[in-house]
Amino acid sequence: MRRPYVIMNAGMTLDGKLATVAGDTRISGKEDLERVHRIRAEVDAVMVGIGTVLHDDPRLTVHRVESSRQPARVVADSLARTPPGARVLSDEAPTIIGVSEAAPEHRVQRLKEAGAEVVVCGERRVELPCFMERLYGMGIRKLLLEGGGELNFSMLREGLVDEVRVAIAPVIVGGRSSVTLADGEGFESIDSGVQLRLLRYYPLGKDLVLEYEVVR
Ligand SMILES: NC(=O)c1ccc[n+]([C@@H]2O[C@H](COP(=O)([O-])OP(=O)(O)OC[C@H]3O[C@@H](n4cnc5c(N)ncnc54)[C@H](OP(=O)(O)O)[C@@H]3O)[C@@H](O)[C@H]2O)c1
Repeated sequence: MRRPYVIMNAGMTLDGKLATVAGDTRISGKEDLERVHRIRAEVDAVMVGIGTVLHDDPRLTVHRVESSRQPARVVADSLARTPPGARVLSDEAPTIIGVSEAAPEHRVQRLKEAGAEVVVCGERRVELPCFMERLYGMGIRKLLLEGGGELNFSMLREGLVDEVRVAIAPVIVGGRSSVTLADGEGFESIDSGVQLRLLRYYPLGKDLVLEYEVVR
């Protein structure tokens, strides 16, 4: 299967949370946010799950560093729940929404009218290998996966992630219901988990950046 090279990136607390119980995501520092925008400027697309769109209403553009180009914005959104007024649909960059066959037609139509390209993969939930193949067919060779925890886990489980980069902020927030780097159903044993090899690590402002490759 031909698919984009995928870098998963997140800013997380020392206890692995991507947000607090109240949804606060101001985790990593300014230097780290600039690092993320430099990666965005290098890739063909930036992808999130519908949970992140509904919680954070992100723009997903490059705006913290200078860039002559904008990557496409990609959302995994089985039921086409992306609100037509969401910032991810702004005209600053192209937007591709992956939906399933279960997405109501009127919502799909509304997304198309808002300027999004809609890709259908899977019966009830977006089937990620199909979606990645379709994105490759649309010219996307390098993709930055920016969460959240549900989508991260599915992408890892499907073997669709090549690199994992995290900025660990020096803070612990706890909360059994707060989103972590990878949620989903989880793996039962350490051996069946996604194995990583450390590539490099460095302090950045108040944070510590760790970069891994996924071992196949
Ligand atoms: N700190 C950071 O770097 C960072 C980055 C991103 C997000 N966040 C935080 O993470 C939270 C959102 O995370 P989340 O886990 O709730 O949501 P998410 O991972 O952004 O989105 C999950 C949703 O994606 C949809 N989806 C479609 N196909 C899927 C598939 N095959 N596998 C998994 N999901 C699929 C599902 O909804 P449907 O079934 O309706 O499609 C699922 O509920 C927010 O609080 C946000 O602030 C933090």
